[in-house]
Amino acid sequence: MTYETITVAPISPVLGAEISGVDLRQPLGNQAYAEIHQALLDHQVIFFRDQDIDWDQHKAFGRRFGELHIHPTSPPPEGHPEILVIHADENSKTIAGENWHSDVTCDAEPPMGSILHLHEVPSPGGDTMFANMYAAYDALSEPMKALLDGLHAKHESRHVHRGRLGNSGKMRDGVDAYPESIHPVVRTHPETGRKALFVNANFTTGIEELKKAEGKALLEFLYRHTETPEFHCRFHWQPKSIAFWDNRCTQHRALWDYFPQTRHGYRVTVSGDRPR
Ligand code: SIN
Repeated sequence: MTYETITVAPISPVLGAEISGVDLRQPLGNQAYAEIHQALLDHQVIFFRDQDIDWDQHKAFGRRFGELHIHPTSPPPEGHPEILVIHADENSKTIAGENWHSDVTCDAEPPMGSILHLHEVPSPGGDTMFANMYAAYDALSEPMKALLDGLHAKHESRHVHRGRLGNSGKMRDGVDAYPESIHPVVRTHPETGRKALFVNANFTTGIEELKKAEGKALLEFLYRHTETPEFHCRFHWQPKSIAFWDNRCTQHRALWDYFPQTRHGYRVTVSGDRPR
């Protein structure tokens, strides 16, 4: 695609591109929307700098890409159920997204994309790593792909969210309801038609068709494989930066190398479809 309204500068050969030429305080025109959407499909995660947006502008940007997702357990700010607070400081015992993962894969229809806007960033530190899960799939041998193509995995959330978020009594699906779902181990991206590995160390707990020990060993292999640096890019935040990632073909990991400094911002998450 030739970009007319934005500039797209890749930050690594494998995924990630920085977008300039757009002010997200303004409603997105059709051409700008189409170009940003295409850049997301082409680069899997896109970044914007110096975007001084408020919650309503953040939500309006997300809504151009679909309905907004509501997190099953994270308590939102009053009156803004679509806003997920990302915060760490000197009192934090743990942070969101410390393991490699794709967002909320415990849901039957996991989010298509996530749009994180950071207001306060540590210096140095607090980068986010992203992995290209098309590349992770493509790098496997043909016999391994053939095995994985027929398998389904269980994704659970109680072990991820209960300790960190506690039970606020206002959870999305009712008190003490932690979603779990079964998804294909390899999913086909609904827009690009490409295959991507779709198991992650945060939520995936077993493989349906295999014995427990076999599934555990295979998942461990796939998690180590996802950690291959050649599948990665690393984003260095500044205040008012935005990262918008496609959860259908990426994983990410937030680095907590800045304790006791503060890192603070908000995520708007775009709903997705059932993985196939
Ligand atoms: C997340 O998993 O949404 C958090 C990512 C980050 O804080 O960099």
